[in-house]
Amino acid sequence: MVFDKRSTRTRMSFEVAMKQLGGHTIVMNAEEMQITGAESVDDTAKVLSRFVDAAMFRISSHEKLREIANCASIPIINGLTDHSHPCQIMADLMTIEEKLGAVKGKKIVWFGDYNNVARTFMQAAPVWDFELVISCPEDLRPSDGAARYVPDPKSAAENADVIVTDTWVSMGQEGKFIDKFMPYQVNEGLMALAKNDAIFMHCMPIHRNQEVTDEVLATQASVIYDEAENRLHAQKAILTWCLENAGVTI
Ligand code: CP
Ligand code: NVA
Repeated sequence: MVFDKRSTRTRMSFEVAMKQLGGHTIVMNAEEMQITGAESVDDTAKVLSRFVDAAMFRISSHEKLREIANCASIPIINGLTDHSHPCQIMADLMTIEEKLGAVKGKKIVWFGDYNNVARTFMQAAPVWDFELVISCPEDLRPSDGAARYVPDPKSAAENADVIVTDTWVSMGQEGKFIDKFMPYQVNEGLMALAKNDAIFMHCMPIHRNQEVTDEVLATQASVIYDEAENRLHAQKAILTWCLENAGVTI
């Protein structure tokens, strides 16, 4: 596992998952690897492929991740880039199915910043056939994709099965101006417009009383810790799928 950003859930869940599957992990800080110096992505990917059965990268550049995947002969797992966070969405969909049954046809409403996690919900919507609504400031609205854009947060929240948000300041965006996100804060007023059994989700880490209030987090609707736990179970499924497809016996 290679990281150029912080992580609690992704790192811990992959480490525990690999151990539970009977394997081993090596964790590297990208800063300490030659890839941060002069070594090419191609050479790094080819050498890694000789040492390990699979690799997970949390790196800012999605382009670089794609390049690594193209050059490697082992499975390369996206542990979050500036573009997307697919492992998170696997755990999120699992959590929705655990709490509410089949995700197909559910109304999932995303509030706040349109970021890497939101973009992955967008990729998942046509695959799992759920209704995705994005409610965010106008200048961030997605220009295409499988979501309906609803600028008014109250209209967006109506009859939602799932209300989901994320930090307004993703890693690497420190110092960003956040006032424009305030209307999209998930609070009890917004939750009251959703269905009675609606759940609240957040990939964490949370900036309490910014994107979501403490009051919402204290309700039964909040499933954030089950969602975090499901990172572990989803990671095992992802690892098993990748390794089996690569012909590696677990
Ligand atoms: N949700 C998530 O990916 O958390 P970490 O940044 O702690 O890995
Ligand atoms: N959007 C957040 C997700 C963290 C898991 C970030 O990129 O920092």
